[in-house]
Amino acid sequence: MEQQDPRLAELLCALSVTLDLAMAQPPEKSIRSCLVATRLADRLHVPDKRTVYYATLLRHLGCTATTHEEARLMGPHAGDLRPLAEHTDSSSVRESLTYVSRIGKGTGIRRLQYVARTLTSGEDDLLRAICEVGSMLAERLGLGLAVAEALYQNLERWDGKGTPKGLSGNEISIATRIAEVATQAVIYRGGTMFRQRQGGWLDPGVVAAYDDSLVADLDDIDVWQATLDAEPTPWCRAPDLDELARTFAYFVDLKSPYLFGHSTGVADLADEAARLMHLDDAERATVRRAALLHDLGRVAVPTAVWERQGALRRADWEQVRLHPYQSERILARSAVLEPIAVLAALHHERLDGSGYPKQAKGSELSTAARILAAADCYQALTQERPHRAAHSPEGAAEIALAEVAAGRLDADCVKAVLVAAGQQVPGRRMTRPAGLTEREVDVLRLLARGSSNAEIARELVVSRRTAEHHVQHIYGKIGVSTRAAAALFAMQHGLFTP
Ligand SMILES: [Fe+2]
Repeated sequence: MEQQDPRLAELLCALSVTLDLAMAQPPEKSIRSCLVATRLADRLHVPDKRTVYYATLLRHLGCTATTHEEARLMGPHAGDLRPLAEHTDSSSVRESLTYVSRIGKGTGIRRLQYVARTLTSGEDDLLRAICEVGSMLAERLGLGLAVAEALYQNLERWDGKGTPKGLSGNEISIATRIAEVATQAVIYRGGTMFRQRQGGWLDPGVVAAYDDSLVADLDDIDVWQATLDAEPTPWCRAPDLDELARTFAYFVDLKSPYLFGHSTGVADLADEAARLMHLDDAERATVRRAALLHDLGRVAVPTAVWERQGALRRADWEQVRLHPYQSERILARSAVLEPIAVLAALHHERLDGSGYPKQAKGSELSTAARILAAADCYQALTQERPHRAAHSPEGAAEIALAEVAAGRLDADCVKAVLVAAGQQVPGRRMTRPAGLTEREVDVLRLLARGSSNAEIARELVVSRRTAEHHVQHIYGKIGVSTRAAAALFAMQHGLFTP
């Protein structure tokens, strides 16, 4: 019998837990919202239930786009505020004041300005970045323009006070309007909230179709299975697991400019090293996909921790140690992803048992796991980190070989990764996407990492006005309008690879 491609819904239900963790929400919130949205779509006789299903499941696909700025503006507890932001009706003075009061002690003027702008302006760059990136990633997943458009409209409101376009009423996709109601229903379990928010934030027609029976059984049923069963037919299939994994790799690496291109860089190295070490095609594919998804669990750790300049505090280190476990937990939900889960969990383990989180030792680490550890170690060394500059390829190779000498990394696997790294360099710089020049690629990298126009001007030794023109020209060429979307574009085209 011919084997079918895996169900897309099964993979995305598993991966949606990454979105929940990134939003500091309980696992399965996206799945629950998706189930309720599908029930609402049934009641409303919406013809395109598929768009409702995927637009709700992936509602937070753009949410890592702004965690870097949030960490800078709102401090180490920015992540804690995410659930509150999602609960806050920005048109309600009382709710907005509650949100502002939670921003924390030591609130500087920049933080207050940010909050004020976020709550009052439909033109906020950060909010637009979330919409732009979510929509770009949905498009990458091949879910079609309707889902991408619904995600772009995620922050629009029925009363027209939302962003990025200030659409109102029926101008907003019905999928987005249902997703908003379903998400709020899952957060609040119905009740009076809807009456307060309909006609303002929420579509009154969708709210009218809601009653608490839609959420009453969520704690008693297997929500995972129920959500899979609720997928409209015909089921979507996932013909290309690599592309799917790559999209989530971008989602994770957007969390901090220090990480841009890390997961895909590790995957390229691990894939080639696996070939050099004669792993069969199936094993090689598993290593490559595990490399793309190895750091999913990073999203559960606040960006401020990944970007901390000094030594990690004890509590931070505890969170960092658990991120491979989180990656495993997310992936293990799907039978298709299970082999990847096992491998991804081992990417920080070392042969002498000094790794984390399991302190696994040599005999417990397969060749595939050793390749992944070597590729992850080498690639990270070639990137800047908050506490050190990027190492040159030669410097990174020296450190990786010292890890071999110390008995922590496998000699053959490190050798294969270094050969793979050496092979990567030629050919990469031959053509640039969207007609970008080499200089524009340099500017794009600065832009993506969050450099201001003034900083870019200093770097290029030009006036600020010229730098501004340069930046607008690049945005025009690549067809995006925010820093995070520029970063995603640059990652998609391998522009961060040394
Ligand atoms: Fe990691």
